[in-house]
Amino acid sequence: MFVWTYKANLRPFIDGLKNRGQSIGFVPTMGALHAGHLALVRRSLAENDRTVVSIFVNPTQFDRRQDLETYPRFPERDLALLEKLDPEMIVYLPVAEDLYEGPVERRHFDLDGLDRVMEGRHRPGHFDGVATVVKLLFEAVRPHRAYFGEKDFQQLRIIQTLAQKLNLPIEIVPVEIQREADGLAMSSRNLRLDDARRKAAPEIHRLLRQARDMARQGHTPEAIRAEIIRQFEQHPLLDLEYFEIADEQSLQPARTFEKGKKYRGFVAVFAGDVRLIDNMALY
Ligand code: PAJ
Repeated sequence: MFVWTYKANLRPFIDGLKNRGQSIGFVPTMGALHAGHLALVRRSLAENDRTVVSIFVNPTQFDRRQDLETYPRFPERDLALLEKLDPEMIVYLPVAEDLYEGPVERRHFDLDGLDRVMEGRHRPGHFDGVATVVKLLFEAVRPHRAYFGEKDFQQLRIIQTLAQKLNLPIEIVPVEIQREADGLAMSSRNLRLDDARRKAAPEIHRLLRQARDMARQGHTPEAIRAEIIRQFEQHPLLDLEYFEIADEQSLQPARTFEKGKKYRGFVAVFAGDVRLIDNMALY
């Protein structure tokens, strides 16, 4: 395994591989790796000669200080997991000062309004922080392909848009949501749920499935949204922040289901002080 911290060391190493004709896949993460992350890593290993995984808890994308401070960190366990998947793995563990080269601040990006709905509306500055760090990581690694999970579907659409706008020669590859056996979407934050809330959390997946079934039965977005919100509001342990039905391309809320367009249900809830997000295709 090859572990790099400074761009000055990482870059020539990767350039050397590329000069020998090797393809480079990249999986950016914030660590506390679970089977969801590992699905992205496996996909990259299957599709590229070499894989780079970055682990960096990016301060500029956190809108709540407490969330940044309590974000789980298990660097040694993460490295052991990655080495087991591939002894040739390249791990990039940047330090903020070297990655940002100057003040560790978010920059502003024009993201075609994709950052003004849902997560963007409830977490001001979050997607500028994500775009800032992903651009810096892309510049440091310069991969051929980069892997992003549909768990963060809005983030995926924003990165696709960013890559297009900046004309980056990087293929953005979406990977489907990995779930626990009871349906809860895998997330590093699940570790922070107490027993009662962990038991309640699969309700999120159940209600997304119900939304999908209602869409397939021909109900309108408005009717589905009202029913799902009503059920969330009755739940004693889950505090709904939003449930939206939105177009997969524009992420704008749907008033009607138009032919030829694809729609998803998107949800954010607080389970105690743990914020969980999930989404599902409604087709
Ligand atoms: P993080 O939350 O660590 O997630 C890293 C990648 O793993 C993201 O692309 C995310 O969508 C994917 N992922 C997480 N849980 C998943 C699941 N259950 N199924 C499928 N994919 C899953 O997302 C970030 O970090 C950061 O914002 C980052 C892009 C690294 C920038 O800091």
